[in-house]
Amino acid sequence: MSDLSPSPEFAKNAHIDAEGYAKTYAASIADPAAFWGNEGKRIDWIKPFTEVKDVDYTLGQVKINWYADGTLNVAANCIDRHLATRANQTAIIWEPDSPTDEAKHITYQELHDNTCRMANVLADLGVTKGDRVVLYLPMIPEAAYAMLACARMGAIHSIVFAGFSPDALASRINGCEAKVVITADEAPRGGRNTALKSNTDKALESCDASVKSLVVKRTGGDVAWTDRDVDYNALAAKADTTFAPVEMGAEDPLFILYTSGSTGQPKGVVHTSGGYLVYAAMTHQYTFDYHDGDVYWCTADVGWVTGHSYIVYGPLANGATTVMFEGVPTYPDASRFWQVCEKHSVNQFYTAPTAIRALMGQGNEFVEKCDLSALKVLGTVGEPINPEAWNWYNDVVGKGTCPIVDTWWQTETGGHLMTPMPGATTLKPGSAQQPFFGIEPAVLDATSGEEIHGNDVEGVLVIKDSWPGQMRTVWGDHERFEKTYFSDYKGYYFTGDGCRRDADGDYWITGRVDDVINVSGHRMGTAEVESALVAHAKVAESAVVGYPHDIKGQGIYAYVTLMTGEEPSDALRKELETWVRSEIGPIAKPDLIQWAPGLPKTRSGKIMRRILRKIAEDDFATLGDTSTLADPSVVDDLIENRMNRK
Ligand code: WT7
Repeated sequence: MSDLSPSPEFAKNAHIDAEGYAKTYAASIADPAAFWGNEGKRIDWIKPFTEVKDVDYTLGQVKINWYADGTLNVAANCIDRHLATRANQTAIIWEPDSPTDEAKHITYQELHDNTCRMANVLADLGVTKGDRVVLYLPMIPEAAYAMLACARMGAIHSIVFAGFSPDALASRINGCEAKVVITADEAPRGGRNTALKSNTDKALESCDASVKSLVVKRTGGDVAWTDRDVDYNALAAKADTTFAPVEMGAEDPLFILYTSGSTGQPKGVVHTSGGYLVYAAMTHQYTFDYHDGDVYWCTADVGWVTGHSYIVYGPLANGATTVMFEGVPTYPDASRFWQVCEKHSVNQFYTAPTAIRALMGQGNEFVEKCDLSALKVLGTVGEPINPEAWNWYNDVVGKGTCPIVDTWWQTETGGHLMTPMPGATTLKPGSAQQPFFGIEPAVLDATSGEEIHGNDVEGVLVIKDSWPGQMRTVWGDHERFEKTYFSDYKGYYFTGDGCRRDADGDYWITGRVDDVINVSGHRMGTAEVESALVAHAKVAESAVVGYPHDIKGQGIYAYVTLMTGEEPSDALRKELETWVRSEIGPIAKPDLIQWAPGLPKTRSGKIMRRILRKIAEDDFATLGDTSTLADPSVVDDLIENRMNRK
């Protein structure tokens, strides 16, 4: 095996080396208030904070406040404060879906002007401080302008990934009572256009008539026009290029982002302004060892938290040049990522294991024909990376010279909680390894809730104390926030993940311990897919579980019981797939649907998911105790007709 310890040359120029990490980490845990008080100064405050931390994890009175008496504007931190020195530096390199279309280099000055135009247009639509604005956009510069415009005026954005269905969009618009939804005519992706405007029209049929839709022109395709539509491009052309940043409290919400939980409908994760920005900026700098002048590329979509923290807020707060990519890794062919790296001389590249696995399967020539000599650091995020994919990423993409940072975090955490640090960590393929500064992980026994000390142990992963980037509440439902994260294990933040701490004290994430699955790095609640299936007229009952999938990490396996009188057929299977796509979006489409005459239930009627997971994994030899089943014979039928056979 190659030497995975940091190279001395790399460590010499890195922000932090092994010794520095150990020292800084120890200091951050010994005196969090002093540590974070100092880090808080990395951003500009209008009124400096005097209080650093005010946190209580006690159930019934959970509160999380950082820098609470300080005021700032997040957009001014991401734009204005750089203008004196970086007005002509590229802030965003926009790479379009088609490689034959021209890329755009947007300077900090242009970013300023366009953000102000957007803010003026929104203000004309009546948006003011505290209002919610939903974004349903392609990966175009206007998405960044809109985020920053909201931040500039104190409005709260909530981005809905453009792959979500009209129903999912409507429930999020209604959930946060948005005043405006910003959309585009169409979203080109992988050579195909998604009809965003017509999806928005459909969504708005179930929303209040006062909701305006602001439409950005992307393709110029023909779209229907209604009374509530506003033509962004026409207004932006006339709009003023200045807009005074609004003074915001550190704890004023910056954005809401809906994410899946183990039960019920997606919850609106709320992130606030000061602490979030400090944490996004700091992690971006250290995790990727970002240096002034580097070109940094995160391939995520702004519809996910990764796009918020590591395409827009973290990099721009650091005055970075950040690449924003509209397309997909395999269009026009499997060389696209590497061609974009070559074209823009990318120094730090950050993507998901699912993309790495898909590209690995296409062969090395797609990588090898590109000049990747500018690459310095590679990153992954979203799910555990299997060592085979890690080694390919390391050897073929990084040529053995680029440290790989396997970043473990969540929508809720705002930024990286565990990651190797380039220049400091001796890497282990497949492990997120060590906590970021100020993060104190603990491993608990799942049943007793007791902390398991020492190394070479496994259990559920919790975090002992708060960090500035932590979510503050669930939009409109603080009780759900407390219940989800602070009630199972008292006094800790519960992550929902399991983990192992190895003999060296390094952490390995073993996956979710709740009913959340991770499909291509996208988070999905099994309950959401179940309720979509059950909403179909022919479906009586359904249970959804994850199963191992070579490319996606986990696939969606649905057991479906039909209404009496309905017959299973391939046509009905297709119909259900299309149904789920239209209810939630393409990412929720079941990979496998098994017709289940009955589901294994306890006598009290609880579905025994453990058994369903085993059958979906094609691992039914060890089903464990089935004695509590009301009707053990249903299991035989399910095994016999299982869909995933190795
Ligand atoms: C869940 C959070 C954070 C941005 C992307 C996903 C899993 C995330 C890793 C990693 C192993 C990981 C966890 C986590 N996860 N990164 N490096 N190694 N697992 O955000 O949609 O909120 O999902 O993704 O299970 O709980 P998310």
